[in-house]
This record gives sequence, structure tokens and C-alpha cells, in this order.
Amino acid sequence: MKRNDDSPSGDARIAHFNGELMPLDEISISPLDRGFIFGDGVYEVIPVYDGVALRAREHFERLQRSMDEIQLDNPHTVDEWIELTNALLAHHPGNQAVYIQVTRGAPQKRDHVIPRGLRPTVFMMSNPLASPSVEAVENGVECVSAPDFRWAKCHIKSTSLLGNVLARQISAERGAIETIMLRDGFLTEASASNVFVVKGGVVAAPPRDNLILLGITYDLLVRLAAEGAVKLEVRPITEAQLRSADEVWLSSSTKEVLAVTRLDGKPVGPGKPGPVFRRMHALYQDYKAKLGATRVAAD
Ligand code: PDD
Repeated sequence: MKRNDDSPSGDARIAHFNGELMPLDEISISPLDRGFIFGDGVYEVIPVYDGVALRAREHFERLQRSMDEIQLDNPHTVDEWIELTNALLAHHPGNQAVYIQVTRGAPQKRDHVIPRGLRPTVFMMSNPLASPSVEAVENGVECVSAPDFRWAKCHIKSTSLLGNVLARQISAERGAIETIMLRDGFLTEASASNVFVVKGGVVAAPPRDNLILLGITYDLLVRLAAEGAVKLEVRPITEAQLRSADEVWLSSSTKEVLAVTRLDGKPVGPGKPGPVFRRMHALYQDYKAKLGATRVAAD
């Protein structure tokens, strides 16, 4: 086996597989694994800043909710998951994105019916975190819109991501960063991010229902807005409200919060990141900075 010891992400791509740390290229998974056959699994992506995982507990609590939704027994408690994450991170210093996937495991034969008593397949890897560029933060990014053609259980962070993949491809082919989706005339989310709009200084976020993935970043932004006296409402957002917004933002664990300054080739508001975005972005960066300080204090 050839080890890539020049890897910028630390220790030769050490990953976690079913309870053990091992080189990524030594992991093999059965073709009968239901993750492969049916996309029968759930996942998480956790951002890590200088070794400190941001809102790890909230991510693993969401993983639990996703597993409950698909009737999959969680092989670990939240505390165990956090320990496993830290063990993996010992091999991957710096800013990272930890990916966690749990599938229903590999039965003897293909059958849609959920088999009981299978050992779930657990896989975790860590890759250098690609935070948004200064340019993207300063100038904003371009998005396109499309109908939301996904299923009605978007609140589950499922590895069955074909709908999201096809949605993202629409923007990729037009050189845009994300595809913002509309269902029955209302804003849902983007292919791998949540979406916020701002009008007259008030932020609006779509309802926490089955039509969006409730982002950990979404929740953090709602909390930071409350603490920072930024007015924010959680309510349905119509297509007209999206298109006439002063500001539109994307949020996710890897994108943090980003201003959308062009939508379908037209400027959003004045075509520059707006004042409410700048305030929210600053609140988010402060939160990240305090996270590091907490760790130093605890050491
Ligand atoms: N995507 N909506 C969808 C469909 C997503 O895939 C994501 C995250 C979000 C934002 O969730 P959070 O704030 O918890 O990252 C919303 C991750 C990053 C991914 O699939 O890579």
C-alpha cells in the first residue's frame, strides 16, 4: 500500500471504520451494504477550527434524530461520538471538516424491507476545511433557482442525496455556487445550504419543517441574531419575497454565512453584501473566535 505522507490534512488520511482508525485506502465495504444498494444511511459534516469541533454535540443530536427517523439504532452515545471525533482529529490538525456516515449495514441479500439486528456500518473521515474565500465574503456569491424536486423528508440528513446532487448540478453548469429551491411557490433551501432573506432590516428564515434540513448553522444564526439584537422571523417565504429581498444569504457548516449577490443573473438588492449580512458575519466570526478561547482556557 502506498501511503501519501505528504497529505496536508495530517496523518496519511487516517479514517475511522467500525470502531478502528486505519488508512482510508485500507477500508473496504461490502457491495451489499445498504448504504451502497439503497442509500440507506445518514450522515453529518462538522466544521473544526484549530482542533475544536464547532457544535459537535448539536451535530450528533441531529444524527440521532436522523437515525430515529429511519429506524436505525445508534451504535454510540453523543459522548462516545465526540470521543471518536477527537481521536480522529488527533491525526488531522488545524481546520477540518469531519464527515460521519452511518449506514444500515450489509445483509445477506437485497430486500427493501428493513432487516433487524444488522451491525450498522460506521465511517468517519476528516478533510481540510475549505472556508469561504475573502473574495466570496467581500463580494458575495452567485446562485440560480430551481424547483425543489426532492422528496418530502428533507429534514433527515440522509445519504440518499441524488435530488441534492441533481439540484447542485444545475448551478454548477451555470458557474454558480448554489441552487436555491422553491416548492409550491415557497423558498425551501439550497442543495447543500439553508437560505435566509432580509427585507427592511428584518431577517426571515423558512420554517423548521420536513421540507428543509434544519441546519446547525441555521440554528446558530437564529441564536446569534437574538443575542445581537438582529430582528429575525421564522416564517414561510414566497418566491416574490425571495426575488424582491434586499439581501439573501446561504448558511452551512462549511460556507458559514455568505451573501448571495446575484440570483438567476440579476443583482440581489444593490448587488453587494448588505449591512445585515455584515453584522451577522461578524457575530459568527466572534463566535468562532470565542470557541478557540474556550479551549485555551480549558487546557
Ligand atoms: N450540507 N441543507 C442541506 C440540504 C444541507 O446539505 C446542509 C449541509 C444544510 C446546512 O446544514 P448545516 O448548517 O448543519 O451544515 C442545509 C453539508 C455541509 C454537506 O452535505 O456537505
